[in-house]
Formats: sequence, C-alpha cells, structure tokens
Amino acid sequence: MLGKIFLVVYLIAQVGVSLVTEYVWERNDLVKDIGKKTRVLRIAIYTILAIIPMLGAYLPRSSFKYYCLGIGNIWFAFFMYYAPLVLIFSLIAVIIAKARKKTRSRLVGFSLFAAFVPALLMSAYGLYHGQEIKVVNEQITINAEDDSLEDLRVVLIADLHISVNSRPALTEQMVELVNEQDPDLILVAGDIFTSNMGMTHPELYTDALSQMHSTYGVYAVGGNHDVDENLFGGFSVSPISEAFRTQEMDDFLDAAGFTMLYDEGVTLADGRITLLGRLDESKAGDGTSDRLSVEDLLSDADQSTPIFVIEHEPVEMDELSAAGADAVFCGHTHNGQIFPGNVIVPIFNEYCYGIEDVNGMYAIVTAGAGYYGPPMRIGTDNEVMVIDITFN
Ligand SMILES: [Fe+2]
Repeated sequence: MLGKIFLVVYLIAQVGVSLVTEYVWERNDLVKDIGKKTRVLRIAIYTILAIIPMLGAYLPRSSFKYYCLGIGNIWFAFFMYYAPLVLIFSLIAVIIAKARKKTRSRLVGFSLFAAFVPALLMSAYGLYHGQEIKVVNEQITINAEDDSLEDLRVVLIADLHISVNSRPALTEQMVELVNEQDPDLILVAGDIFTSNMGMTHPELYTDALSQMHSTYGVYAVGGNHDVDENLFGGFSVSPISEAFRTQEMDDFLDAAGFTMLYDEGVTLADGRITLLGRLDESKAGDGTSDRLSVEDLLSDADQSTPIFVIEHEPVEMDELSAAGADAVFCGHTHNGQIFPGNVIVPIFNEYCYGIEDVNGMYAIVTAGAGYYGPPMRIGTDNEVMVIDITFN
C-alpha cells in the first residue's frame, strides 16, 4: 500500500519538476539558443529517467530489470535533492525577473544550475562515501551469576543489503575489518539481502563472508528485506502474503557460513551464555508477519545465564527487558543513511542508533554495514560495531 502511494507521489513530483524545469528553460537568458534546440532531447531524458524506477519495480526478472532498479535507485537520490532546490531557486528567480518586468533573465538560467550542481555533488559524495566503512567501539557491563565468564568481544553487523547496487568489494572490506577485531562472537542483525533481486555473482559475496572468523561463530537473523518481493523507491509493492524467503537465499546463507536463528536459540561458552534470534517483526519470511511473542521466545531460556537477543528491528525493548534479556542487538534504521534521513528517522524510531539502557537491558542499534536503495551514505557512515562486554 505504502509503495503504491509512493508511486503516485513520485509520478506527480516527476511531472511537476519537469514542468518547472521547462518553464525555467523557456525564461532563461543564459543558454537561450541551446535551450530551444534541445527541448525534445530534454523531454525524452525526463521521461526515460522517470520511467526507469517503474521498470525496475514491475518488469519480470531479467538483467534489464536489475539494471533499471540500480539506475533508478541513484536517480531517486539525485531527484530528492534536485526537486526542492529547483522549486525554491527558480521561484525566487522568476519572482525577481517579474519584479524587474523581464520575461527572460540570466538569473532564471542560473537557478537551474544552482539546483543541478549541488544535487550532483551531493549524489557524487554519497556514492563515494557509500563505499567506506568505519569501526565503532562500544563497551558494556553485564551482571552474570557465573564468575568464570571471561570478557567477550562481539562484532555486530547488519543491513548488508546485498542486491543490485551492492559491491563485493565493500563486503570484502567489511570482512577484513571484522576479522581485524579478533571477535569472540559475530552477530548479523538482518537485511542481508534487498529482496531476491539483482544478486549477480553471489559466490563473490559468500566467498568473502565465509572468511569471517570468531571463537563462537557467526549467528544471524532475517530482516524485513530478506524476502522476495517487488520494491518501488524502497517500498514494497507486493503483499506480505507473497513475501517469502527463497531457496536461493537459504543456499547463500549456508555458503556464507551463517547460523540462522529463526525464533530459536543456542547456548555458547559451554552453556554459560544464551543467544536467541527473532524472526522479523513485519516479515517472517513465510508469507506472514507471525512470530513468537517475547514471552514465548524467552520462556525456555536459562535466566541464570546472560541472555542476548538478535532482533532486526529495534522494537519491543520494554518487553524484552521485562522477560530477562540482557542485551538486544539490532539494525534496520541505518541511522537515516542519507540526509535528511539522519534527521527524520530518529524522530520516528525510539531506538535509532547506539546503545541505550532499558531498565537494565542494553538496546544496541547499529547503523549497518551497507546501504538500502541508493548506494549512498550522506551524513551517516557504514559501520562495523564492536561491543566489548565485561561480566561482573
Ligand atoms: Fe536495512
């Protein structure tokens, strides 16, 4: 539903911004002759760019669909910056031109460049920064009855979003950083894929991911994007009843060496630590959003041990705390990923980024090691989060 609303808004915005851009070309005195001669070309470019993301969403599976999806994601980000800038600058320029009683003006021409150049520079920076990962270090202390437990170094990664815009080089960089931390435990908090689309050469990713090493292994949960579905502008245009985890995904996760925890748990360190993994809150991977309640999931957990939970979306923290969890490891928010998302997303997510104390339980949210949709980071970073846990 959200995807279809976004599609309508997108089409209105595309037509509106194209008309404004043409209006400005008509009244600019900067590139007058070029403007007239290239009108057909411009309209063709607007139309093609506007249609590309829709082809990416609705065409049947093909390399052409994935190509459209990849280009469309970058176009979305550029458009997100260009649209408001061109509306504001051109309006100001046209008002000034009218006040001077001019039908044409250089200032109006400049307003196009004043919108286009910053949008292009922001997008270029985002693409560049999207290929960088930093290491973030955190420390927490957990009360444990068993005083034989030694300090534990957990590496938390999430939101790899392997798909049409991901690059094996970024995954390789992440694996190198993870291994440099010499972790005891590696947790992957979901959104390993973005749907089932565009995962060309999966072996390049699995070869890298299977190289991650730790004392106790790599444990992961699925996220809301670890299902096969059609997306438009990042929003699902498929009903949940059609959103399933696929055999291709399961094979990938096997090859990557991940132990998946689908509403189930394991014990580590000779039974002295309990680790539980939840199904995603919105998409369980079986065409439903059904999952165990917090109470049911933790009912068999040994409360005398520290209890860790991997949960893709940072929700139900009060319930998890009340049920006896000591630390919950999440992703999902990307910390907003792209400006102004880094300003807006924290408003709508109580637990958006970092570590918070929830009645003695740690709610830990990473910004993620990859990107969703546009392969960009602006105002936020891809990260590998290292959490050093001391037991006392
Ligand atoms: Fe994500």
